[in-house]
Amino acid sequence: MAIREILTVPHPVLKQVSQPVAAVDDELRALMDDMLETMYAAPGIGLAAIQIGVPKRVIVMDLSGQGEEKQPRYFVNPEITWKSEETAPYEEGCLSIPEYYDEVERPARVKLRYLNYQGEQIEEEADGLYAVCIQHEMDHLEGVLFIDHLSRLKREQAVKKVKKLKAA
Ligand code: NI
Repeated sequence: MAIREILTVPHPVLKQVSQPVAAVDDELRALMDDMLETMYAAPGIGLAAIQIGVPKRVIVMDLSGQGEEKQPRYFVNPEITWKSEETAPYEEGCLSIPEYYDEVERPARVKLRYLNYQGEQIEEEADGLYAVCIQHEMDHLEGVLFIDHLSRLKREQAVKKVKKLKAA
């Protein structure tokens, strides 16, 4: 396993649409292992492959709390099959937009379908932080960042802040 570099805004690759994965094989599992290690090291709770410059529809996530046993989750070719009309706000952050947080309103519950680490198809319903995180990560697969849900002014402020942070 290896820790990869996480791209930050305004890197153009983050705007790219990721491509579906043909097969869950050892090569893909090696990518997911690297993604998980990179996410833990950051530290973060979710990471999409495009954030390390790989345009594949792959996400890793771990929503376990500090001091709890790790619960890695892997999503290959995830699809949202249903969204609740009810929405909920959550203050989001992103490893590609370090030290910037803002509130985003999203459907409170979603149903999703994906392939797991073993390549098995899973269907489940997500709510709470899981629903927030999977929608945030799936936006990355479309080249969409959480700041794209905010006003243009806030988006520009966020990018400026990250550029300054990187230059320091
Ligand atoms: Ni993100």
